[in-house]
Order: sequence, then structure tokens, then C-alpha cells
Amino acid sequence: MSGGTPASGTLPESQVRAMFDRIARVYDRMNSIMTAGMHHRWRQRAAELTRVGADSRALDVATGTGDLAVELARRGASVTGLDFSKRMLEIAEAKDPRIEWVQGNALDLGYADGEFDAVTVGFGARNFADLDRGLAEMARVAKPGGRVVVLEITSPDRPPLSWFFSLWFDRVIPALGRLADSEAYTYLPSSVRRFPRAAALGARMAAAGLDDVRWVLTAGGIIAIHSGTRRT
Ligand SMILES: C[S@@+](CC[C@H](N)C(=O)[O-])C[C@H]1O[C@@H](n2cnc3c(N)ncnc32)[C@H](O)[C@@H]1O
Repeated sequence: MSGGTPASGTLPESQVRAMFDRIARVYDRMNSIMTAGMHHRWRQRAAELTRVGADSRALDVATGTGDLAVELARRGASVTGLDFSKRMLEIAEAKDPRIEWVQGNALDLGYADGEFDAVTVGFGARNFADLDRGLAEMARVAKPGGRVVVLEITSPDRPPLSWFFSLWFDRVIPALGRLADSEAYTYLPSSVRRFPRAAALGARMAAAGLDDVRWVLTAGGIIAIHSGTRRT
């Protein structure tokens, strides 16, 4: 485990892990309610950007309940899903026994350089105690020429979407979250706010050793899917 010193505005690692352990049983249901089921489509797009197929080896970090790992496995890749929350992994394990599920820390991956054809993270980078370290670890374990893909919520800059975003994240999500876990669903909007905007995240990925960094915005600009290629 890494030291766990949080960046400003984040919770310490131990608290993030405990929070996901607590909400594991409701996590998938809350995702479907909060996104009207659209999160599956976003994960499919992220998986497409990895370009994996049969013969590929892929790692999904902060895999949680494993939906992005499952998308990668559907494309024929041999997949490892890694997370530090045991309870989230228990839900993932029931979804696809072909996937190797591993408890571990995304900031300190126990893999050699260049082991994977693709490395992904879905809605997890925002929770990293140290984003640059997490991105550097993802780039390190990707093969030269391999793909790194980051799927994340992003804050829109301009009205009217920014107004809608505020209403949704500051009022609706915490209200819905009170039904499940108040702390977790108050943490969600604050973690989105402090996360870099799309262009800034692209620059951080380039600094982590990735070339050809691009991103697509979807869901009216509140979901960003970044991809890059590990520098040779
Ligand atoms: C919002 S969930 C996302 C789960 C899943 N990837 C998805 O697309 O729904 C964030 C996950 O990141 C995990 N996580 C956060 N920081 C981590 C770290 N440093 N190492 C491993 N897992 C981490 C949490 O335990 C949690 O399961």
C-alpha cells in the first residue's frame, strides 16, 4: 500500500477504501439510477479505445464491481481487475470467473514494466490519493505502444450545462445518496470538482509518459474518455 497522503480535497486512502467497502452492495444499482443506465455505453466506448482483442492482456485498475473489466473480457482479452476494496471485488467476482480479480493498490502496482497491452481505469482516477502517481503506474505497466484509457466524470465549463451539472451533482446526487450512504454521495460531487478538466487531464497523461493523448466528451460533456499510447 502507498503512504496514503491525500491530495487537497481528497479523503485519505483508508477512508476511500472503507467507503467503497460500505457501498459495494448498492454501487451498481446507484450507478444505474444516477446515469439512467448510460454508464454501460460509456464503458463500451472506453473498452473500444483500448483496441484489445484475443491475445491481448489488459489490466483494469480501481476496477470496483468490475464492469469495465467485463467489457474488456468481452473483446477476448485476458483481463486482470485490481482494486483495494475487498467488498467491491466480491461483487465483481460473481460477474465473470474468467477474469483474474486482484486486491491491490493502483498507486503501487506489483507488475513489471510493459506487462499489459492496455491499462484502463473507470471512474477511479478521481479517487486516487495521488493522480500523477496513478497515471505513471498505469503507463509503466503498459507495453511500449500499448494503450492507456481513463473514463471519468468531468465538469462542463459553460452554461447551460454547467448549471444542470451543479443542480444534479450538488442537489440530486447527495439527495439520492442519502438513501444509500450520505458521506459517499456527498464525497462524489466534491471529488469531481477537484479533478482536472479534460485538457488538464490530457496534459497530466502526456507527462506520465503517454503519446497521442486524445479525449472524447459524451453525455453532453459531463463524461470524458481519455486515451493515450505508451511512449516507446
Ligand atoms: C467509483 S468506483 C469505480 C469502480 C469501477 N471502475 C467502475 O467503473 O464502476 C472507484 C473504485 O476505485 C477504487 N480505488 C480508489 N483508489 C484506489 C487505489 N489507489 N487502488 C485500488 N483501488 C482504488 C475504490 O475501491 C473503488 O472500487
